[in-house]
Amino acid sequence: MAHYIFSLLFYALAALCLNVSAAELAWNGHTTPGTTKPAAFRPYYVPPGSKSYDSASPLVLYSGGRWTEIHSPAYTGGSLRQTLQVQASVSFTFFGTGIEWFGNRDMYQGISDVYIDRDLVQKVDAWYDGKRLTQQRLFWRYDLLCQKHTLKIVNTGARPGSTHDYAANLDAFVVTGCHSLQQLDDVPPPHPHSSLPPLLLATEAEPANKWTLEQKGSTGVHAMQLAIISSTHALIIDKVEHNPLTIDGHPAWAALYDIENHGVIPLAMLSNSFCAGGTFLGNGTLINVGGNPVVEDNTSSADFGDVDGLQAIRLLDPCLSSSASGCKIYESPDRIRMASPRWYNTVLRISDGSAMIIGGSKKGGWMNNATVNNPTIEYFPPKSIHGSNGMPIDLPFLHETLNSNLFPIAFLLPDGTVFIAANNDAMIYNWKTNTERRLPAIPNGVRVTYPMAGTALLLPLSPHNNYQAEVLLCGGSTIDDTRPSYKISSKEPASAQCARMVLTDAGIAAGWEIEQMPEARLMPDAVLLPTGDILICNGAGTGISGYGNVVDQVGASNAADPVLTPVLYTPSAAPGARFSRTGMPTSDIPRMYHSVATLTPNGDVMIAGSNPNLDRSEVKYGTEYRVEWLRPPYMTKARPQIMDAPEQLQFGETVVITIQLPTGFQDRSDIKVALMDYGYVTHAVHANSRLVYLVARLSTAGTKITIMAPPNSMVYPPGPGWLVVVVDEVPSKAQRVMVGDGKGPEVDEKALKNVLENTKPDQYEESKSKGGEE
Ligand SMILES: *[C@@H]1O[C@H](CO)[C@@H](O)[C@H](O)[C@H]1NC(C)=O
Ligand SMILES: *[C@@H]1O[C@H](CO)[C@@H](O)[C@H](O)[C@H]1NC(C)=O
Ligand SMILES: *[C@@H]1O[C@H](CO)[C@@H](O)[C@H](O)[C@H]1NC(C)=O
Repeated sequence: MAHYIFSLLFYALAALCLNVSAAELAWNGHTTPGTTKPAAFRPYYVPPGSKSYDSASPLVLYSGGRWTEIHSPAYTGGSLRQTLQVQASVSFTFFGTGIEWFGNRDMYQGISDVYIDRDLVQKVDAWYDGKRLTQQRLFWRYDLLCQKHTLKIVNTGARPGSTHDYAANLDAFVVTGCHSLQQLDDVPPPHPHSSLPPLLLATEAEPANKWTLEQKGSTGVHAMQLAIISSTHALIIDKVEHNPLTIDGHPAWAALYDIENHGVIPLAMLSNSFCAGGTFLGNGTLINVGGNPVVEDNTSSADFGDVDGLQAIRLLDPCLSSSASGCKIYESPDRIRMASPRWYNTVLRISDGSAMIIGGSKKGGWMNNATVNNPTIEYFPPKSIHGSNGMPIDLPFLHETLNSNLFPIAFLLPDGTVFIAANNDAMIYNWKTNTERRLPAIPNGVRVTYPMAGTALLLPLSPHNNYQAEVLLCGGSTIDDTRPSYKISSKEPASAQCARMVLTDAGIAAGWEIEQMPEARLMPDAVLLPTGDILICNGAGTGISGYGNVVDQVGASNAADPVLTPVLYTPSAAPGARFSRTGMPTSDIPRMYHSVATLTPNGDVMIAGSNPNLDRSEVKYGTEYRVEWLRPPYMTKARPQIMDAPEQLQFGETVVITIQLPTGFQDRSDIKVALMDYGYVTHAVHANSRLVYLVARLSTAGTKITIMAPPNSMVYPPGPGWLVVVVDEVPSKAQRVMVGDGKGPEVDEKALKNVLENTKPDQYEESKSKGGEE
């Protein structure tokens, strides 16, 4: 068995090596600050806050054979050690949560066994059939407990299919410290357990109500954007930076994360996706929209061969196999792009299965302003609508909500209109008539969109009240968004306010209902559970979103005081009794700016990310690759199972699904079937997140449920969803279903042609060469 696992590992590594060779060809970036001359990428990188130990360090111990010192300016510290002897080893004891091993890949190198604290954790093949690659990351691990560890590398001398003896080498180790614990220094008292060992802490609770938190896996690419794409994989999208996972000879900025086995596959992407939004379309293809120009700041993160992402539309076709093999992101700016540049736009699937692309700024920056604002919507595929012929349509609301109005909050409502909140205001947009209906302002001056990010959800829709829509907005800040950054502090308190409103005439007349979370949160994440409850996690107690802008920055973070304990919100409970922290564990990992959380098809919550930094950093608050799994109490109960369900649901149709109820199930009336969209998560915006309960009737034998699909494409927009059976408040695992005909949005060739003829793929670069738009 062990042998089998290692051969799998070996093949995985061999595949990685192949990527490296494809690499040199694909590479067109430059790595030296201030130059535009292409140069080979060397993965060796010491993030601020990390420490590098050279092969010549006295802390590095060589034994079991002869290690030769080789001198060359190509090596870090000017030297490298290499052994040709089988069983020769090097060991290194360090204190921290992560370790990286750098060295050469060439045709003399073979397979080494890597041990951490005596456990064989990986077989690393450093063989490479090409010109020698130096300063390569041969091994990395970032999810260790914060304590003393010993890494040992043993040369096996072997390579499959060869009888030669091969070498092992070491150029340097890079150690990630215990940044998470240092960060706890700053956490104020409300978490009484924070000085105890971190994991699995819970407030006093009956075991039946106990939530658990497990840290397991690392994303390899920082998780700025997250979407579940299949029952086994999540898509992770980041910005261009020094992530340890590489592809085509440079750091990757997108990946597929295996939520069952915790493996991670890098994805190639052409353009810079910082900070894009996303949605599935009606045909199941996921689009990722908008981003950033090539970063030309004076940083080594500047250029990994990416292109301007401001008008990018990146496509990921359905990727459903459990190996995620062959899944690719497709980009072709000449054929598929937005009509205007957008940074921090929101992307929403609407009732015809197309995407509405909302707002954003025309170039990267921080707080929006009238010069860079893009106060428009456009569609993908483009539409001939309201005389636009595919071009952007002006939205007065996005002018009037300056400055703090990036990543607008948006939900498709069950009458086909769209709720939009930005800054301190909200409205209902009728895209068919291009009209805005203003709603009462969000009370008490609370701003809810970037950089005063709160979070929001459309509460579960149910046939019991004819799919009455109600929205919930939580957190944010009351900081005056006209104050200059140097007058804003990372220590200013966030808002604890939640505001909810029923979006009927009567509900709007009644206005916002106000509640207070137990703790203030900026940048929280709100996750719908199949039970209809809402988990609120992540975020900071003080400051403002972004990095490098305000006074009292922590590292580069504009926010401080991480909120480490999630809270459960029960929308159907009586006012005053909706928030609960019973049995809720406290994390030791701050989830600050650029953190994410999503429900998975298993029913648990995947929490990842946090990176208030220009590039990968290990200072407080560092770039976080560790994943946490928050498991509701229902995960350990006997759960219902979906044995058989259709893969497609047409609107209004009645279908039968086969289930198995847990033994001892009593209350036949307490059975619900939920159709869920887990949404596309980034910057506290859970775009497209949705839960629709279906009309459901249990058969007498208790083995079948007759369900009625959503009545129309406004209640649930056409596209992928997840079916879950909930009995006695315990959900089954979810099964993917395509809702609608699966054909996807109509393509208006005239509008598409007009957009391509009248726009350039790179309008931002164009404006710069004309002397800039400011
Ligand atoms: C889905 O529709 C989009 C927009 O027309 C198109 O670009 C994409 O290729 C389609 N996906 C599939 C799988 O057909
Ligand atoms: C740019 O970076 C280089 C190398 O790190 C440094 O020497 C130089 O001072 C920097 N220049 C500016 C203008 O910040
Ligand atoms: C508007 O925002 C851009 C991008 O952050 C910034 O460069 C510019 O200085 C701002 N303009 C004003 C007038 O504040």
